[in-house]
Amino acid sequence: MAVRAIKKGIYAVGAIDWDRQLFDELIPTPQGTTYNSYLVEGSEKTALIDTVDPSKTSNLMDNLEETGLKIDYIIANHAEQDHSGSILAVLKKFPDAVVVTNPQCKKLLKSFFQFSDEKFHVLEDGESISLGDKTLKFIFTPWVHWPDTMVTYVEQDKILFSCDFFGSHLATSQLYAPDAALLLVYAKRYYAEIMMPFRPMIKTNLQKIDNLDIEIIGPSHGPLISNPSEIIKLYSMWVSDETLPQVILPYVSMHDSTRIMVDYIVEALINRGIEVKPFNLSKVEIGELLTALVDASTLVMAAPTVLTKPHPLLAQTIYLINLLRPKLEYGAIIGSFGWGTMMEKEIKELLSNLNIEYHETVLIKGIPEDKDFQDLNNLADQILKTME
Ligand code: FEO
Repeated sequence: MAVRAIKKGIYAVGAIDWDRQLFDELIPTPQGTTYNSYLVEGSEKTALIDTVDPSKTSNLMDNLEETGLKIDYIIANHAEQDHSGSILAVLKKFPDAVVVTNPQCKKLLKSFFQFSDEKFHVLEDGESISLGDKTLKFIFTPWVHWPDTMVTYVEQDKILFSCDFFGSHLATSQLYAPDAALLLVYAKRYYAEIMMPFRPMIKTNLQKIDNLDIEIIGPSHGPLISNPSEIIKLYSMWVSDETLPQVILPYVSMHDSTRIMVDYIVEALINRGIEVKPFNLSKVEIGELLTALVDASTLVMAAPTVLTKPHPLLAQTIYLINLLRPKLEYGAIIGSFGWGTMMEKEIKELLSNLNIEYHETVLIKGIPEDKDFQDLNNLADQILKTME
């Protein structure tokens, strides 16, 4: 990727990873991603804000070479390797550069790489550094995404370099988000997969940056954002306690008993005017399901019993949901068994992080009969009652 000017003296020097399909060996990135790194050239000093994933170090180094600038400061907003992975290479080229970061990030960087203490300038929250005619202000924003995360604000240019905060896994040749709809899709998916577990901390951090006059957000993944108020408004909605009256229904079926129940309850919910999104776990791309959970009030889980427990496809999915802590309010379990089941207990244990109120469980032996369909109607009524 070539060097691109954002404003006078501010350049994007990171890398596009068109091929990356998975993050953390877990999270699908069907549109690839970018590792954004920014160069801020002041009248006296030059700072590099974050580096790139180790796999793209040569791209970053080529871009730095192209600028011909000498780097005085390497700002580490976050220690995760997709942003810190090229710091050693940059330090090798610019041995006098100082790594500017917060105490938490320093600790993490020292645990990942061989750094001596004198390479660091350790910041206090709210501290600024002058580059001459540009000033960098650092605001600690812990837990977006790790405890070390901070953001860097260029006062004169009103740009917030927000690291993972407001990011999106979207490989694009466009410097800015092309439209709001696209931003909504990929920023929301990113929030669901990366940020959702830290909802309370994000609320606090949104307040911390509230008084900044921001014209441009430069995240560390995905395109720049030229309309910051839009993404900030979306984040405020996602982290709020308000849910939308939606039913998200992950399911798996082996011999159709559970599928018949799912088809029935989906129709029963639609007939009651309730928005419902079923996700077949043998086909779903997990990011789609996680994104749907950002706003929804209700999770209905459906599976057959396997060796007394929920089918492993459902079990692994709710294990992940439990880790990501969506703001669900209500849950329900439906499914089937042949000769016995402990599915309800197991599912509730797997979701122990969530503070949800359960509707009545509907577990049936074999193929559903009339009384089972009536139980599903009752469940649909219970769900409707929570949404009136
Ligand atoms: Fe993109 Fe938390 O690193």
